[in-house]
Amino acid sequence: MGYTIALSGKGGTGKTTLAGLLVRYLVKTGRKPVLAVDADSNFNLNEVLGIEVEGTLGEIREGIRTEVPSSMTKDVWMDIKVQQSLVEADGFDLIVMGRPEGAGCYCAANSILSGIIEKLVKNYSFLVVDNEAGMEHFSRLTTRHIDLLIVVTDPSKRGAQAACRINELVGDLGLYVGRRCAVVNMARNGVPEPIAKDLECFGEAQLAFIPEDLTLAEFDMEGKPTVNLPEDSPAVAAAFELFDGLLEEK
Ligand SMILES: Nc1ncnc2c1ncn2[C@@H]1O[C@H](COP(=O)(O)OP(=O)(O)OP(=O)(O)O)[C@@H](O)[C@H]1O
Ligand SMILES: [Mg+2]
Repeated sequence: MGYTIALSGKGGTGKTTLAGLLVRYLVKTGRKPVLAVDADSNFNLNEVLGIEVEGTLGEIREGIRTEVPSSMTKDVWMDIKVQQSLVEADGFDLIVMGRPEGAGCYCAANSILSGIIEKLVKNYSFLVVDNEAGMEHFSRLTTRHIDLLIVVTDPSKRGAQAACRINELVGDLGLYVGRRCAVVNMARNGVPEPIAKDLECFGEAQLAFIPEDLTLAEFDMEGKPTVNLPEDSPAVAAAFELFDGLLEEK
């Protein structure tokens, strides 16, 4: 399986923005092929990446009840559907998990789906998983193995507390996490001292900082994909420098 990088953190702190920039960085530095995984049920990584979603795994899981033609096994049908929902872009693919399952038993569908995903992820050198805010999402990952966990916060006390909780939870859930990094995003002048103190829960793990970037916010407002920002834009430059350090040996 490829090197798996997951982003987590409080709502609205910039997880998806950084996930998109990370995908761009990996492609740019030749670390291909990359699979971008949108694990947020309210998916929008595609917007940051400037591509259209063609279907979600959630829809496929729902469809197994009514849409499988009698000439096909569920396995084959699901395999075809997953291939179709995979968005192929320049140097990377995107898969969108979509809505979590509703009430009822999805055991069969889920087990076929995880088999397909397990096979699929073997095709990629890098996986970038954009998660939704909160922490339950870790249970949605098909993998229990995260090589690099990037916990994103804004320069707020509540963001830092959420970051520490996530940092603790991954241990409690028994996930393997190779390396961790806490990123303070949208800070104006570096990491404020009290926030740095709160983030001491990360111990020796790297603490990084990405500035507030008005061009980035403008792009967002105008509906332009974040990945099209110029490379010398402050947030992009800071993010790329951070990724350089984090992935030096990868
Ligand atoms: N460094 C930055 N400077 C300015 N604006 C930023 C920066 N990083 C992110 N933003 C903006 O903040 C908003 C939230 O970012 P984003 O959607 O990436 O956060 P998120 O953590 O993925 O949110 P959610 O929890 O809803 O998934 C967006 O409008 C984005 O453009
Ligand atoms: Mg997001």
